[in-house]
Amino acid sequence: MPQAKIGVIGGSGLYHMEGMTDVEEVKVQTPFGDPSDVITIGKVSGVSMAFLPRHGRGHRLSPSEVPSRANIWALKSLGVEWAISVSAVGSLREDIVPRDLVIPDQLFDRTKDRVKSFYEGGVVVHCSFAEPFCPTLGSLLLESARELGNVNVHQGGTYVCMEGPLFSTKAESNVYRKLGMDIIGMTALPEAKLAREAELCYAIIACATDYDCWYESEESVSVDMVVGNLSANIENAKRILQKVAQKLPADRSAQTCICEHAVASTIMTDPAR
Ligand code: ADE
Repeated sequence: MPQAKIGVIGGSGLYHMEGMTDVEEVKVQTPFGDPSDVITIGKVSGVSMAFLPRHGRGHRLSPSEVPSRANIWALKSLGVEWAISVSAVGSLREDIVPRDLVIPDQLFDRTKDRVKSFYEGGVVVHCSFAEPFCPTLGSLLLESARELGNVNVHQGGTYVCMEGPLFSTKAESNVYRKLGMDIIGMTALPEAKLAREAELCYAIIACATDYDCWYESEESVSVDMVVGNLSANIENAKRILQKVAQKLPADRSAQTCICEHAVASTIMTDPAR
């Protein structure tokens, strides 16, 4: 099986990574069933990258149906250390304008029907998740996004992950705003939790596509709005990936983030009893 240093999970609108060289498609089997689709492995800026479309090509899987355990397991089994999610989000703040990019630094879980851990059946692990995104990877994404020069990029922010698949009500959207959330999406969880348990460095390039439904003077969010604004930003996201591939450190163990050793000393289960 070919190996890759970077894993990219493409959200709505990002189903292929053009511009990769030495491309190979692999079908990875996992103990949790099939990932969302075949994984494309190739080189970007000379660095090995595995690309997986989160919803499958043709967008077949709703957010609640995404097989996140299989996806993260598959990337880990390909040797991925750095996992980057590209995701469409709604904006809950006036100054985060549709087509802006956000590199969030916090997460708030409002999902209900998803399996959120690899550990079950007699093994109990409580990883730290106070900082849900890798700060090393987040900083490199931010720096790379700023270098583009043609897009407004926001540093940090809280991503509230809702279950979906319907968008929020106005009451919900306004409550999230009052609670201090900045952007809303449907897919960061359980992906981020599983990435932490898999000891991957994980961060998100969030592409703001709409003002959700709280912004009275705007049309409420619709699929057309999400797709239109997203396709404008997908090229930017791809350019960020090219840049970040060149910036990632050769040796992840020299980093100060906790990601690589996230599970060590968090196992509660006593193997002797
Ligand atoms: N993805 C893109 N826009 C969204 C929104 N307004 N709510 C939830 N997920 C989204």
